[in-house]
Amino acid sequence: MTMNIHVNYDDLIPNNVDLSNDPKLKRALEKWHPGYINWWKDMGPEGFQTADVYLRTAVSVDPKGWAKFGYVKMPEYRWGILLAPQVEDRTVPFGEHKGELAWQDVPGEYRAMLRRLIVIQGDTEPASVEQQRYLGKTAPSLYDMRNLFQVNVEEGRHLWAMVYLLQRYFGRDGREEAEGLLARRSGDADNPRMLGAFNEKTPDWLSFFMFTFFTDRDGKMQLESLAQSGFDPLSRTTRFMLTEEAHHMFVGESGIARTIERTCEVMKANGIDDPHGKERIRALGVIDLPTIQKKLNLHYSLSLDLFGSEVSTNAANAFNAGLKGRYQETKIEDDHMLRDVTYPVLELKDGKFVTVDEPALAALNGRLRDDYSADCQKGVTRWNKVIEKAGVNFELKLSHPAFHRYIGGFTNVYASPTGELMDKAAWEKRKGEWLPNTDDMDFIYHLMQPEYGIGKYANWISPPKVGIDNKPGDFEYVKLA
Ligand SMILES: [Fe+2]
Ligand SMILES: [Fe+2]
Repeated sequence: MTMNIHVNYDDLIPNNVDLSNDPKLKRALEKWHPGYINWWKDMGPEGFQTADVYLRTAVSVDPKGWAKFGYVKMPEYRWGILLAPQVEDRTVPFGEHKGELAWQDVPGEYRAMLRRLIVIQGDTEPASVEQQRYLGKTAPSLYDMRNLFQVNVEEGRHLWAMVYLLQRYFGRDGREEAEGLLARRSGDADNPRMLGAFNEKTPDWLSFFMFTFFTDRDGKMQLESLAQSGFDPLSRTTRFMLTEEAHHMFVGESGIARTIERTCEVMKANGIDDPHGKERIRALGVIDLPTIQKKLNLHYSLSLDLFGSEVSTNAANAFNAGLKGRYQETKIEDDHMLRDVTYPVLELKDGKFVTVDEPALAALNGRLRDDYSADCQKGVTRWNKVIEKAGVNFELKLSHPAFHRYIGGFTNVYASPTGELMDKAAWEKRKGEWLPNTDDMDFIYHLMQPEYGIGKYANWISPPKVGIDNKPGDFEYVKLA
């Protein structure tokens, strides 16, 4: 297979995988295409399918200048198949096959495991589009609306990325899985998406920003570990996806930062020192910081569940097989086999949190989750700088890993966000202090009024410091139909 840095846009499906020389695959993908477009029209951003949106489209996989910007109607977006350049003589970087040449085809013995990894990743991509489909109606600005749609079309492209692997390498089962990816629906009672956080609602913009910060960051960690894969096409696909993913996390982090900034600014302008003076702060049309903390608790804890059980034989098997590595595997200095080594995992034993040295192979999910938490903490620290700079006495914190968990060792553990243990009844009684309650959700819901004026922003959020593609403040990011 030849490899191009530049993308062929002459084909129905833009690609840099020489699709025109693989007629069978081309036909399979072209057959899948109308179903995808139907899915996008049904489940993509509602009410904005004919708007002109200032979007970036990937035109190359060269890290410098891979995107071009222009107005596009979303159903006409050029979703393509883009793989990062092949690294010559790349070897499997970890596991039992460490040092062997990376696989260009599916190793037969790992076929089922590999397919499952790809399907699980693929399922999250359309799910988030479905979760976010009504948000355009309450966008706080055209700038934010454009960012939402950018994230949405790229999640659509990520679905293409996974479907390419399924159709190219997995024959009939792959085609069936590709159909399944278009058939499941976020939150559907009969045919839901595969992972919990992807069946939750994203009902408002604070949720959206939290989702892109916390849940897309889980995506980043998963992609990072798949980018290490000994199955080279998966490595190359996910490597390019990561370049897009960075923008999604920027949207989340800066969205929360701008919300915090505006709250602090309005508090100050009105002589409010107490960040807990909820009624007074809300009456001014901004979101009080304790409510932002509650949203953080919710999204962080839901995202922790996405890592699966801290101690897991599946994770060990995928590592041994050379299919899914650790975060920044090639930068870690050890034998990359993890024989006879341990990793410390926080567990609850006899009513106390203790650190247990588990076999490192079994603890890979726990390790990836720890790497994730450290990455989240960096963003939280930057948010706290915004609060500190405004002179408000409040600190946002990541909740304790045992708080509000449904998967892993802390399932059925009742802990507060600071890790205080209690019984179920006590926890239920207090959960409204820690997670958004009906009153909080109602307040946020009513605050979310659209602001479609050019260069205008809803009262609850500050404008960004810099425009997308360096556009000026009065740029019309979305031309509404
Ligand atoms: Fe994605
Ligand atoms: Fe994403």
